[in-house]
Amino acid sequence: MEINTAFQSMINLSQKKSGASDTAAFATDVNDGLSQDQKSLPSRYFYDGEGSRLFQEIMELPEYYLTRAEYEVLTENKEAIAREFAGAGFFHLIDLGAGDALKTKILLQQLTVQQSAFSYIPVDISGDILQQLSGSLQTEMPALSMQAVVGEYSKALEWLQANKSGRKVVLFLGSNIGNFKADESRNFLCSVRAYLQPGDKLLMGIDLRKDPDVILRAYDDAAGVTAAFNLNLLRRINRELGGNFDLDQFRHYALYNPQDGVMRSYLVSKKEQEVYIRDLQKSFHFAAWETIHTENSHKYTLPQVQDLGMACGFTLQTVFQDKNKRFADVLFSVD
Ligand code: AVI
Repeated sequence: MEINTAFQSMINLSQKKSGASDTAAFATDVNDGLSQDQKSLPSRYFYDGEGSRLFQEIMELPEYYLTRAEYEVLTENKEAIAREFAGAGFFHLIDLGAGDALKTKILLQQLTVQQSAFSYIPVDISGDILQQLSGSLQTEMPALSMQAVVGEYSKALEWLQANKSGRKVVLFLGSNIGNFKADESRNFLCSVRAYLQPGDKLLMGIDLRKDPDVILRAYDDAAGVTAAFNLNLLRRINRELGGNFDLDQFRHYALYNPQDGVMRSYLVSKKEQEVYIRDLQKSFHFAAWETIHTENSHKYTLPQVQDLGMACGFTLQTVFQDKNKRFADVLFSVD
């Protein structure tokens, strides 16, 4: 589907004609995850309407330093970053997982101020978010040329490869890479690299290793917003698949391991219980204090980030950091 307005258009690569296939995939993933010895649920299902709202709240929490740190990195370095992007004339700025693009807007404004020639291509799985983003950009930056792409990263990259020629700069902000498994992050980066040509660039946001207590607090805030975000996954199963999870009988538990740099989030059953999920026609048994693993958030050292990029054929060009060195936006180039 293509929607055109005067200055922007939206491509929808999502194959789903209705919510039906979405729900079927969710049911399969829930069944697979809850049938394992170590129960798990994929973190991508956090982001229904309520989950997305809770994530916005998380980003404003005093403990969740990531968003503010990256905002600082981009604000303090916007001239240098925009200069690197604009170096060799016109380019496509591809924003993977754009969301509300709050941080990208810092760069969009700077690129506009310095009169760079570029088109903005936000990519997101949520068409609603991209509609909102289009609306806000139309008001804030009416001269911006933009084409939004609704779809998963891999589909979007394929579409871009076939439809957009010319120089490309890819943004992958927000430490979203941290939510991939180790092999997935490498596969993902290598697939981005395969799509790029010499002269193209990638700017990636990375949460760095730091005092374990600081990291732990970011995922176990005093107000309990992250707990509500995690528990919302069970509410979503109840609503969309007819589950009967009693949310009061589960609790959020976050655990950071400084040895491997992984923040792991769980839902823990407070008692022995059975949970029935109507659409799966199946009950799941929980022992008292049994866990469901719901998310990994990887924290990196800078040498690890460099190795990750190099393994896919990127060259590390510049590392931009906040003053407390909590977060980095790493600029990779393709030579
Ligand atoms: C989206 N992602 C980078 C967040 C993170 O920090 O891993 C998701 C999140 N989970 C709990 N709090 C925030």
